[in-house]
Amino acid sequence: MGNAQQQTTDEALRARIDPERVPAHVAIIMDGNGRWAKRHGEMRVVGHTNGVRSVRETLVGATEIGVKYLTLYAFSTENWNRPRAEVDALMDLLVNTLMSELDSLHENGVRLNAIGDLESLPGSCRATLAEAIRQTAHNDRITLTLALSYSARWELVNMVKRIATDVRDGRVDVEAIDDALVSANLTTAGMPDPELLIRTSGEQRISNFLLWQIAYAELWFSPVLWPDFRREHLYQAVLDYQGRERRFGLTSEQVGPA
Ligand code: IPE
Ligand code: IPE
Ligand code: MG
Repeated sequence: MGNAQQQTTDEALRARIDPERVPAHVAIIMDGNGRWAKRHGEMRVVGHTNGVRSVRETLVGATEIGVKYLTLYAFSTENWNRPRAEVDALMDLLVNTLMSELDSLHENGVRLNAIGDLESLPGSCRATLAEAIRQTAHNDRITLTLALSYSARWELVNMVKRIATDVRDGRVDVEAIDDALVSANLTTAGMPDPELLIRTSGEQRISNFLLWQIAYAELWFSPVLWPDFRREHLYQAVLDYQGRERRFGLTSEQVGPA
């Protein structure tokens, strides 16, 4: 598709989105970089490099329709077990991308955030990340959260440790432990739960991402490999989301139009 034609497609899709019912928080499991590279006869890392454009497109697209939180699964706890060269390449890509994109993030009102075991990242990553977070801290158009060295079980174990410590030290009463307290002790404290979770590459699993937070998220699976993911796919996902009835355990009559 040519550029102008693509723009027409994007705009046509965007026009169909109800601005009143855009999900406040969209989370994405960006998957399929390796397979994309293989299909193009390239090394896996080339797939990751090409995934950066998809991140940019998704971020711009999400901002345009008024999504307030975009959370991207960029590197899982389990991903540390990949071949050393691939892990190193991913860390380098993270640093280089943050450095090259920082100005544009800032100009577009993006507040950068990161969740996960950030201590386990190489020093250069931690430093670049901390600086980018600091520089964009006062932006408020959209919060871009990168999940890095993240896994939901890691997060849940930490939450239990924190609450248990507070109980032990007398700061929290056992009876006071509720949904809100659990949420407040997760890495996503202060953010609304994602209403929409997207996974690319055809896999239909969660792979240890935001287990608590997606309790009632709408799931959208796409066969598109992450490096091919564009604004139009995000818009398709949002349109599909808007066509669904979210019942939260109630009957259709209860949640339907009065
Ligand atoms: C997603 O693409 C990126 C990361 C997990 C870091 P993959 O690298 O998992 O790509 P596939 O699943 O092997 O195709
Ligand atoms: C999930 O993708 C993690 C990220 C997208 C960062 P994986 O490719 O690691 O997941 P599995 O191994 O297919 O479940
Ligand atoms: Mg994968």
